Formats: sequence, structure tokens, C-alpha cells
Amino acid sequence: MPFAISKIIHLTGVDSTNNYAAKLLSTSNPPEGTAIMAQYQTVGRGQRGNHWESEAGQNLLCSIILYPEFIAPSEHFSLSQLVALSICSTLEKIAEIQCRIKWPNDIIASDHKIAGILIENNWSGTKIQSSICGIGINLNQKRFNIPGASSLFLLSDRQFDAEETLNLLRKELWEKYHFIQKNGNESIQQAYLSKLYRINEKCEYTSGANAFQAIIRGIDEVGKLILEMEDGSLNKFSMQEVKMKY
Ligand code: BTN
Repeated sequence: MPFAISKIIHLTGVDSTNNYAAKLLSTSNPPEGTAIMAQYQTVGRGQRGNHWESEAGQNLLCSIILYPEFIAPSEHFSLSQLVALSICSTLEKIAEIQCRIKWPNDIIASDHKIAGILIENNWSGTKIQSSICGIGINLNQKRFNIPGASSLFLLSDRQFDAEETLNLLRKELWEKYHFIQKNGNESIQQAYLSKLYRINEKCEYTSGANAFQAIIRGIDEVGKLILEMEDGSLNKFSMQEVKMKY
């Protein structure tokens, strides 16, 4: 059974499900796959220090605890890749939509962001001791203050159940997680590239005060974006260094 002895902890309101998971990890050893889900967060956190907007009771807000000790430190981006791929396969199954992954791990459908991932790793020396995989999926929300955000409801005109979505997501994640544990992460890299939003297309990027056009040509082994610049050279960028305009 996937994540057999782990459970889902249901909360009404919390500061952040990631914070709750961190507190749980600091006082106990929850079974791998334990998930925390909440109806609303008061300080939902996103990438790059952003706030994660979500209307109470409308969306899936959860954190899943993993112990990916088998992942080499240099390959820790593969965890982010497999969470992103698991969200894509979950949403493609429940809503019959096509998802793409905007590097590094935004989930996009019909050119709109419908889900985000915030992974927080707890390192023990050079090993990842535990990971908190924070996931926000916009299910039923109808209006967003953030341009470019959307929900499954707005894309498919149907309502979705947060717990059912989480159960399928845990199953998808469990399968992929154990697959890379046994077989290594090569197939995950391929699957990720095949889902990468705007790969091989010319797009606008910003890096600090610079704006430029470039083409995504791949991702390196530590998860850096490989861009072909206007002069034909290849440059690598970390998440802090570049942003796609879309
Ligand atoms: C992003 O900026 O794209 C990442 C968003 C991650 C949001 C989720 S919601 C559940 C979990 N708890 C948080 O505070 N953040 C993540």
C-alpha cells in the first residue's frame, strides 16, 4: 500500500502547512508520506519569499513529509522534479487537462499557473534527512489577485475535492518516488524535460536589471536552467538569477 502507515492530518487553519510539518518533525518521527492539509493558511509561503494566495476552503494546501536519504546531495533537484511530475499526472487524470512545468517547478495549464511547490529540506551533513514538500493546487477558486494564476475550476468548469486530489497525488508521488529509489533518476529527467514549459522556444527573460531573449535548451544535473543566448552561447542560471516573462 502506498505510504501505508502514514496518515493525513486535517487542519482548519494554520500559519503554513510547511511550518506545521517542520514542528512535527522537530518533536517526532512521522511516518514517511505523512501529509498535512489545511482549509486555509494565514502565512502561506511561496517561492522566492512570496506569499501564497489561496481562498479558504477552495483549494488543496498540503505538505508531505519524505525521508529521501537515498538522493545524492547533488541530485536533490530530482525530488522537485518528481513532485512536479506527480502533480501533473494527478491533474491530468482528474481534470483531463494538459499540464506543463515552468522551470523550476510551477505547474502551468493553458498558460496559467495552477499549482506551486515549496520544498524545504532538512540536511544532516551532506544528506537530506527529511523533506517537506509543500504543495498548493488551485482547485475551485474563481478569482485571483495575481495575474497569470488560474484554477482547475476556471479551466474545466467543474468542482474538485481537495482530499481526493491529495489521495491521488500521494499515490502518484509514491510510485515515482519508489521508482527512482530503485532505478535512479534518469527517467525522471527525461519525463521532466518532456513536460518543460516553452522548451526550445524563444522567450523573454530578466536577470537582475537585464532583459533578454533566450531559448531553453535543458536543465543541468543540479537543476540549473540552460539557456541559449542571443549570441548562440549557452549560459546556466540558478532560480535566483533568472525569471521568465510570461
Ligand atoms: C510557489 O511559490 O509556487 C510555491 C507555493 C507553495 C504553496 C504551498 S501551499 C501548502 C504549503 N504551505 C506553504 O506555506 N506553502 C506551500
